[in-house]
Amino acid sequence: MTAGASGPAMRISGRAQTFTESVIRDMTRLALRHGAVNLAQGFPDFACPTELKEAAKAAIDADVNQYAITWGAADFRAAIAAKIGRTYPGWTVDPDTEICVTCGSTEAMIAAMLALVDPGEEVVFFEPFYENYGPDSILSGAVPRLVRLHGPDWSIDPAELRAACSDRTRAIVVNTPHNPTGKVFSADELALIAELCQRHDILVFTDEIYEHIHYLGPGGHIPPATVPGLEDRTVTVNALSKTYAVTGWRVGWTVAPAPYTEAIRKVHDFLTVGAAAPLQAAGVAAMGLPPEYYAGLAQEYRVRRDLLCGALENTGFALRPPDGAYYVMCDTTDLDPAGDDVAFARRLVSELGVAAVPGSSFYADPADGRHIVRFGFPKRLETLRAATDRLRLLERTRAAHP
Ligand SMILES: Cc1ncc(COP(=O)(O)O)c(C=O)c1O
Repeated sequence: MTAGASGPAMRISGRAQTFTESVIRDMTRLALRHGAVNLAQGFPDFACPTELKEAAKAAIDADVNQYAITWGAADFRAAIAAKIGRTYPGWTVDPDTEICVTCGSTEAMIAAMLALVDPGEEVVFFEPFYENYGPDSILSGAVPRLVRLHGPDWSIDPAELRAACSDRTRAIVVNTPHNPTGKVFSADELALIAELCQRHDILVFTDEIYEHIHYLGPGGHIPPATVPGLEDRTVTVNALSKTYAVTGWRVGWTVAPAPYTEAIRKVHDFLTVGAAAPLQAAGVAAMGLPPEYYAGLAQEYRVRRDLLCGALENTGFALRPPDGAYYVMCDTTDLDPAGDDVAFARRLVSELGVAAVPGSSFYADPADGRHIVRFGFPKRLETLRAATDRLRLLERTRAAHP
């Protein structure tokens, strides 16, 4: 349809013009077109635990079909609070006043920002970044301030973080374990964040969707909400998505002090009303899984990580195996001296049949990611093997054109 001379001006909001469509989903579409193994988008290709499926089916059979309480079914909130208490002794959450169930952690983060940040206030987040935080800030009118994570270990330069924080800062966004780098924030780094938050009266929004997927052993992941000085200024964002391999269910939550939760619940109500009621019932079953489930999850991810990282290194990518989450950032300098990450990733899909994410999508200045691609490994071992078999062709190409 074309707009005639008197037709509507096809204007979109200034806000929507300031960010682009997700590069990751674009790579997924390309992967589908080429029948490629999709190591771009971070979704598992294996089954979720039987307990969740049975509980979801039972809830649908029992006609749990109508709206749950806007901020989450009472039994699900109680189960979330109980699981937090069991996992992190000493962290007590009141399910009546401190939890809001959302449609995935994606909604949880934007609802938190819309509820707690005023236009013009600054939000600090770390670069390379998970691609949602920029648009989240823009949609809530906040001004993003980026602080670099420095490879190869993705450390923070304390002076740079200090310089980014001021009385204009409303929040620091932490994501630990971190997508895309696999960094797990250390006790010292969180103590520094706590010091700055207290000095400038800053909140922490922490995305802990990979809390159980790390390779550091028990106690390796420290939730910021448990760090002295951050207890009353932290909004924790989490979801069923990654821990239970149900990214399409769209069930997440926030945990925050009651006054903040009250505001988040209001925003959430008008954004989405609520998350799917039968899937919240399945969430109760998820929260009841025993500690062995989480130990097994981390162990299985370790095997996947080691398989993929070993094969990538043999192929000529330079990398540091991640400490957490299920992605690995790879330096492509040897394989792509020209440093065009987008062209390189497109070649990987169309010529080899493996999809990865161009590094530039994780940086404000695309030039900073031009020697990087990110692979994800939430996949069955046979899927990873299929990918690594295809990637071996790169070795041959390299041997032919040294
Ligand atoms: C850091 C991070 N946060 C949030 C999400 C999305 O979570 P959800 O599916 O629960 O909205 C992802 C998905 O890749 C992620 O990597």
